[in-house]
Amino acid sequence: MLAFLRKSRNDDASASRTEGALVPRKVAFDWSDTPLEWIPGRPFASHFINEINLLLPAGEFWFCRLYNQALPLVTDEKLRADVQNFIRQEAMHARAHGGAIAEYLNAHGIETESNTRQEDWLFEALLADRPLGFPLPKALQRRWLLFRLGLIAAIEHMTCVLGKYALHNTVWDEAGADPTLLDLLRWHGAEEIEHRSVAFDLYCHLGGGYVSRYYLASIAMPVIFGLWAHGAAHIMRQDPRFADMKPSAFRPWIWLEWQRQSRTGHLPSLPWLIRQELPFFRPDYDPVQEASTEEALAYLDGSPAAARAAA
Ligand SMILES: [Fe+2]
Ligand SMILES: [Fe+2]
Repeated sequence: MLAFLRKSRNDDASASRTEGALVPRKVAFDWSDTPLEWIPGRPFASHFINEINLLLPAGEFWFCRLYNQALPLVTDEKLRADVQNFIRQEAMHARAHGGAIAEYLNAHGIETESNTRQEDWLFEALLADRPLGFPLPKALQRRWLLFRLGLIAAIEHMTCVLGKYALHNTVWDEAGADPTLLDLLRWHGAEEIEHRSVAFDLYCHLGGGYVSRYYLASIAMPVIFGLWAHGAAHIMRQDPRFADMKPSAFRPWIWLEWQRQSRTGHLPSLPWLIRQELPFFRPDYDPVQEASTEEALAYLDGSPAAARAAA
């Protein structure tokens, strides 16, 4: 039964669900005119989404390290090419958000290091090959790798959901949001949609099962939402307008305000995000069904940052 659930697809099929070749794109962003309040009149939503810049680089470089480690285990040629291009895309995402930290957030006087140090600890120490420096017995090393690849598959479902949100959110445009930040979110989101199947394919190919998807997603979801609120609070504490609220992920205000602000359409709400996770728990979950590659490629073809890098 479990074997059936584990492999819902034909054994003869390629391990890759990705159609065609993924394209690693270079991008270049000019942050010189982007205001900190990049959605005019919406400081909470601006800070909340700006936090993504702090959260992503350490995680995405961790994806790259683990995928380089998993690459020799991949026996399917197409999936191997997908994984290689996934690594190139994620490395570019991490660099682009790192650039936003240095050239945009830090340039506006936002202190980021105390927060990014915590992300670094999570991905470079706790989730390292030797968790917190402790070497694992050989028998557990492959399981630990697969566990972490499963976490990545769960996270990649979330990034695909967020990618769709960024591509579909017209409220930002109506509010006069900064075009450079919008392009960062939409270029990244579109590539998340483009490579949405890779992490799940790799996890299944290396023996990841259906039941483990439950606990992996149950770990990944609250951790990501918690880190998001925690980092957003860190940025908000530096804005005098929020000083009285003492923003913290350990106090109710930021969670309540998140839901209140999401009603304006400038942020995805927490209940909506949780609902979007449900397909990942289905036995017949298929990342291909979660978004439109054509829509993503249409955005990527016109991305100003990609055009700027090409020029
Ligand atoms: Fe990414
Ligand atoms: Fe991704």
